[in-house]
Amino acid sequence: MKVAPSLLSCDFSKMGEEIVRVDQAGADLIHLDVMDGHFVPNITMGPAVIAGVRPYTKLPFDVHLMIDDPLKYIDAFADAGADIITFHAEAGSDIAATIAKINARGLKAGLVIKPKTPAEVVFPYLSELYMVVVMTVEPGFGGQSFMADMMPKVTVLKEECRRRGLSVQIEADGGISEKTVGAAAAVGVDICVSGTGVFKAKDTAAAIRFLQNADRKG
Ligand code: DX5
Ligand code: ZN
Repeated sequence: MKVAPSLLSCDFSKMGEEIVRVDQAGADLIHLDVMDGHFVPNITMGPAVIAGVRPYTKLPFDVHLMIDDPLKYIDAFADAGADIITFHAEAGSDIAATIAKINARGLKAGLVIKPKTPAEVVFPYLSELYMVVVMTVEPGFGGQSFMADMMPKVTVLKEECRRRGLSVQIEADGGISEKTVGAAAAVGVDICVSGTGVFKAKDTAAAIRFLQNADRKG
């Protein structure tokens, strides 16, 4: 399983060094949580911060837009160095147009669904998507408890992709640590986001390795 440490749980006063630390500890991607204080009741970072830390790693930047009207900002995040841009189905932009815009910029498009949003909402867009992100917490904050009842949604998505011969990555985002990653691995999650589970771990490399090997446990 690929691991994308979420910077929301890092030391913001030295974000560049924190990126180097998890890169050297074996991370596969870097997950950057963008929040606008409207779509979610929290404010974090924008394109300027992402551009500022871009030079610290070659790892893919997995940019998670928790903002209203994401279509308006795709160019700004693409210019800032995003490799994957994921946005919420509930965020008010035309979903097909936003996916098309991300793909037109040569980036990978992801559609995110909140816990209360059924998996079927993303079905019409699967053929244009690189990734679907299943939120396993309510978006807005790190350090929340993993919602294991979201795992059947992953199974529904995997079944639909298999039925249509699509190879869409499924990412789980929220509350994933050594204690909860087994449930995600059991349903075939491809990429797990972990903020607290990685940045608050005593041994960062060991925490990342444990999550990466979770889908290899017998
Ligand atoms: C929550 C964010 C998640 C969060 C993950 O809105 O989208 O990426 O930062 O952090 P943990 O792993 O601490 O739940
Ligand atoms: Zn996220």
